[in-house]
Amino acid sequence: MTEIITVPLGDRSYPIHIGTDILKTLGDKLKEIGFPQRVAIVSNPTVSQYYGSIVSNTLSTAGFDLLEITLPDGEEFKNLQTLEQIYDELIRNNFDRSTGLIALGGGVIGDMVGFAAATFLRGVPFVQIPTTLLAQVDSSVGGKTAVNHPLGKNLIGAFCQPEMVLIDVATLNTLAPREVAAGMAEVVKYGVIKDENFFAWLEDNYLPLQNCETDALIAAVKKSCQIKADIVEIDEKEGSVRAFLNYGHTFGHAIESLAGYGQWKHGEAVAVGMIVAAKISAAQGLCEQADVQRIVALLKALKLPVEPPDYSLNDYVAAMRRDKKVKHGTLTLVLNQGIGNVKLSQVPDISTVFSEILNP
Ligand code: NAD
Ligand code: GLY
Repeated sequence: MTEIITVPLGDRSYPIHIGTDILKTLGDKLKEIGFPQRVAIVSNPTVSQYYGSIVSNTLSTAGFDLLEITLPDGEEFKNLQTLEQIYDELIRNNFDRSTGLIALGGGVIGDMVGFAAATFLRGVPFVQIPTTLLAQVDSSVGGKTAVNHPLGKNLIGAFCQPEMVLIDVATLNTLAPREVAAGMAEVVKYGVIKDENFFAWLEDNYLPLQNCETDALIAAVKKSCQIKADIVEIDEKEGSVRAFLNYGHTFGHAIESLAGYGQWKHGEAVAVGMIVAAKISAAQGLCEQADVQRIVALLKALKLPVEPPDYSLNDYVAAMRRDKKVKHGTLTLVLNQGIGNVKLSQVPDISTVFSEILNP
């Protein structure tokens, strides 16, 4: 059975299909929504070795005309240079405004294809076929697209919603355990920011999730996508509550850029960032130490890192100052009030707030 969640954005609303073994239905689903007949499938060698032929078969059978574009695999390639490779191939193959793009892969592919779709010929439609847990619960939904700059994560990008998201949890069977764990960090995030019952459910179900058991995965993906869709419906362009989704991300992004892209998985860096955010929240009296301990214990159980790498406070602060959330030198931090609720907090003095946590 396929579950459908809608991201309700008026005439730009779109469905998220969630199920197992549903990749082969992509061609029919794209026909149903009137997707352009000429499409480019953008993927990387790791993903296309497993799923490239299923996707090209379902599309060919449904009458689509295909171009396959293969990008190098890795966060370190999520940049303008790789993006240019997409534009080059589209232009060389005479893609025009009546064509569409298909992102087949994890968050790196999804973010780059989304940005290419937002900018190629000032915009062509695209769909997301996320194949990592992280992409299924977060990056494929909500329309944030971007590439990295050497000095900061996702600094060059656009908001651009897909026409559809198709999530086949069976694709997670080929995913490395480290990548499954990284995706779980974003799942835990939803519990902390929005739903204590879901957090408690994760405490009870982390083992079946780690083992990629289908029912548990579908339940976690569905809940995560629903929470994200509800938030994006209220605040598509991060003027208010969408910022809650950045819980743990400012510090996480600093780790990723200091370590060099690709060294830390995004989800791993977010796990440590969430713990730092929880400790700051406790220091400000917004949550109990017991809440911090629950967050640490769940992330540890999921085999995620819980300690920040050993960079100097100055390095961390310099990296965080380049974050997109800094305005006029003031950082907006997401802090948790207990578990299941968060608030935004303005931090003019980044150094002091983080020094209490990093150098207690
Ligand atoms: P990723 O895309 O690099 O994928 C991780 C690895 O898994 C890659 O080597 C990939 O080739 C491989 N892979 C993908 N699917 C596979 C499968 N089914 N089987 C085997 N291997 C597979 O990393 P990610 O964690 O998916 O995404 C991280 C990126 O997402 C970061 O760049 C981050 O900034 C971005 N992100 C964006 C948003 C957003 O809202 N746009 C939200 C969260 C994260
Ligand atoms: N991953 C944060 C957001 O989509 O807003």
